[in-house]
Amino acid sequence: KSQSPTKLDIVGKGSNDSSIDLVEAMRTFKGTWRENKVLSRQMKHELAECCDVESSVMTKRNVRVGDVLPNVLNPKLPLKITRDIYSVLPKESPFMNKHYQRCAVVGNSGILQRSRCGASIDSADAVFRCNLPPLGKQIYRKDAGIKLTLTTAPLSMLKSYAQMKDKSVKERFLKDMEPYQGILSLKKPNNYTNYMIQALEGAMKGRLCAVYEHPHHFLSVNNYWNNHGIPRKITSGIYMISMALTLCDDIHVYGFWPFPTDDKGNKVLYHYYKAPIFIKDTHDMPLEFLLIKQMHQDGIIKVHMHCA
Ligand code: CTP
Repeated sequence: KSQSPTKLDIVGKGSNDSSIDLVEAMRTFKGTWRENKVLSRQMKHELAECCDVESSVMTKRNVRVGDVLPNVLNPKLPLKITRDIYSVLPKESPFMNKHYQRCAVVGNSGILQRSRCGASIDSADAVFRCNLPPLGKQIYRKDAGIKLTLTTAPLSMLKSYAQMKDKSVKERFLKDMEPYQGILSLKKPNNYTNYMIQALEGAMKGRLCAVYEHPHHFLSVNNYWNNHGIPRKITSGIYMISMALTLCDDIHVYGFWPFPTDDKGNKVLYHYYKAPIFIKDTHDMPLEFLLIKQMHQDGIIKVHMHCA
């Protein structure tokens, strides 16, 4: 059993059981880092082969009316492509012929608080985020930046905001979305998302492109990581890192720390911002973190915990 708050057990499936020493982990990220071009190219090549990024969103080219696609959120309810759904799909993927030199992938861990990584994040050519984090407030800017190229937008979150009785919470959420511009990636269309997309489009004054993730792409990426030691469904954080690995030359990662304390035993909040938390017990976040740490050590991605 773990003895100290900085040494934690990580429970996986069978041989994946492991532990992490947070002091050692933080030290790893503070050391010098050099890209390993061979390993980096290898992983990017593997991901490009299994999971073509141009097919990551549903378009009029890769989906037809009448198609029945898997539903990533509920395998028992496949997604039938109706005329209505087809009509809102873009002709082409927004990732067509896209390539970025330097990318930032931002997780939502409370470790970002007081990290002062905002300027480093915003200096990237493209910024990938998860689950519509609030970017509007000045207090988050220093640590998390404001730039956005692509973010996931979970249906559960949009549904909760759509149904919220306290209107001021929804208004605050929409206000926090005002600085957004870029691509909003949703799992699938439904009434709540349509309603919230309209509200968000209003808040963002047309600087928004909402697309639907292609389930075949997500499942291929998920399968890739299942074969690399992650037993359950991958998080949106790992999905965004995978997108960056297929779209970018240099990948810088911030805000990934799924532990209740830092290396000194100080409390770390689950999120760097205040918002309703929709925690799901469906992922292997600490196991994914070990993988992220390994990719950092292998010179494939650079993880930042604190920025000067
Ligand atoms: N994350 C992390 N440590 C935390 C919180 C989040 O490493 N304390 C990473 C995870 O990879 C997560 C991503 O940041 O997917 C985005 O965070 P969050 O919005 O909290 O994701 P969840 O809703 O918890 O999970 P998901 O969207 O992946 O289902």
